[in-house]
Amino acid sequence: MTFYRESCPRAEAIVRNITWSRVAANPALPAKILRLQFRDCFVRDTIPNRSLEGLDVIDEIKAELEAECPLTVSCANILVLAARDGGVLTGRRDERVSLASEALDNLPSPASDFNTLQQQFADNGQGVPDLVVLSVAHTIGVAHCVVFAKRLFNFTGNNDTDASLDPGYTATLKAQCSSPRNTVGLDPNSSSSFDSHYFVVLFRNQGLLTSDVTLLMDKRAANFAWIYRKFNVFLA
Ligand code: HEM
Repeated sequence: MTFYRESCPRAEAIVRNITWSRVAANPALPAKILRLQFRDCFVRDTIPNRSLEGLDVIDEIKAELEAECPLTVSCANILVLAARDGGVLTGRRDERVSLASEALDNLPSPASDFNTLQQQFADNGQGVPDLVVLSVAHTIGVAHCVVFAKRLFNFTGNNDTDASLDPGYTATLKAQCSSPRNTVGLDPNSSSSFDSHYFVVLFRNQGLLTSDVTLLMDKRAANFAWIYRKFNVFLA
């Protein structure tokens, strides 16, 4: 990555040093930064959304880079570099417009079906292979119970459970989700290592979010998922 070789030669080292030291103190951070990076691609300039976890790291890096090379390194690129060092190519400039309404409109929902996800990714210039391969990011990190509670407790409005979810896993999730604020690993038993295990759990009917499970509802997407699992494409 050479985008700042002339304009700010120490940029990548600064990002790397801060990211690594913060990750050493907080192993959950790479997942937060990776999710920020994804949201930044879908929503014009995620940075001003102060409610997102991990942004304090971007703030710290931005402050040091402004001291080193003022007005040179965009927040969008800091995010890309931090996501790479925490666990994605530079060349992105910050958008001048950032609208809260866009955040809701453009972001894929965890309850989305395949066609909706496919369309949203297509609107961002990404195809079915991109959708499947990027979804592997859910091999790390957590989701709050409130995000998928409907699947456990009230799937069709009759206090029922999503029958497509593995029954043993459903019982485990119900026990873990005594409060909607609790979190559970997106990739059970492997949520701290970046590997192909996410696809293993999908085929065991243990995908946590409807947006994960729905990848198997489309023949082409399911085929990609099957290949990624079989050949263990993402090695730990
Ligand atoms: C396909 C559509 C996607 C949907 C609907 C979706 C939705 C979600 C939701 C609802 C959560 C849980 C948030 C929470 O409860 O705090 C989550 C977590 C996460 N997502 Fe996605 N996501 C999608 C794709 C992606 C992509 C493409 C990436 C990165 C390339 C990504 C990276 C992550 C990460 C790393 C986490 C864990 C965050 C943490 O541990 O705090 N997601 N996602």
